[in-house]
Amino acid sequence: MKLMNFGSLNLDRKYGVGNFVAPGETKSADSYFENLGGKGLNQSIACARAGSAVWHVGAVGKDGTALVNCLKEEGVDTSHIAVKNTASGHAVIQVDHAGQNCIIIVSGANGEVGKEQMIEACEALEEGDIALFQNEISNVAYGVTKAKRSGAKVAFNPSPFNEKISEVDLHDVDYLIVNEGEGREIVGGKLSSPEEILVAIRKSYPWIKTVLTLGEKGCYYIDGEEKYFQDAFSVKAVDTTGAGDTFCGYFLSALLKGCEPERALREAAAAAALAVGKEGAACSIPTRKTVEDFLEKKE
Ligand code: RIB
Repeated sequence: MKLMNFGSLNLDRKYGVGNFVAPGETKSADSYFENLGGKGLNQSIACARAGSAVWHVGAVGKDGTALVNCLKEEGVDTSHIAVKNTASGHAVIQVDHAGQNCIIIVSGANGEVGKEQMIEACEALEEGDIALFQNEISNVAYGVTKAKRSGAKVAFNPSPFNEKISEVDLHDVDYLIVNEGEGREIVGGKLSSPEEILVAIRKSYPWIKTVLTLGEKGCYYIDGEEKYFQDAFSVKAVDTTGAGDTFCGYFLSALLKGCEPERALREAAAAAALAVGKEGAACSIPTRKTVEDFLEKKE
């Protein structure tokens, strides 16, 4: 059983700042790093480091060799990554002293993931596989339905949340992985508390198993009447970039390995906490051994 991740590949340009730049302000960065990232790449690496077989479907430009090689080094199958005649996607990321981030993405080659490419990848899907989508590549709505028709379970992380999400047929989604803002938007944008959001998601989409992540406030899993809460592990935040992606990859890997959702939440929360304690996106994702050692000390 494998994860087939239809996801973005970005070159991340990270600027360390005391506080985020305000309108009209020009400021010098305290630090600058170029990292490999993209929600897709981060989630593939997290799932592979957690011990699962991962295939990545996506697109880079001719400047994207490092992105593909990085996935290969993690054991990820890259045969469904296309090389396009355009620049790879990139992200401009401000990280403040509290470790919070704000991100601008430029889709580049991520915006050229084609339907044909998705059809070919879906031919390799088998029962028990999970197909994962975020919202940083083209043709997500098409891919979700195609993957579902090919017999896989579909996991959807509607991030970043924008008008394209409404094109996705949520009847084809088995697992929804959202943060508080995305969860709120998916049920109309008005509700305030996480509990209200969960109730509304269950009411509107009763077939979907939902994970709602709340950062340092923990996370929920809900499937019909079954509901679990996992506290966040307390760590000093250095850089939250990619922590949600780490959570997502570890959570899905645990499911692929047959773990109960409660255990999957715990492993994912531990991996995300470890990622928050390190700088960068992909480079902050912990190995399986690091997560196991961390949890052993907590249990
Ligand atoms: O979730 C973090 C990621 O969002 C970054 O790596 C950046 O590339 C953007 O896709």
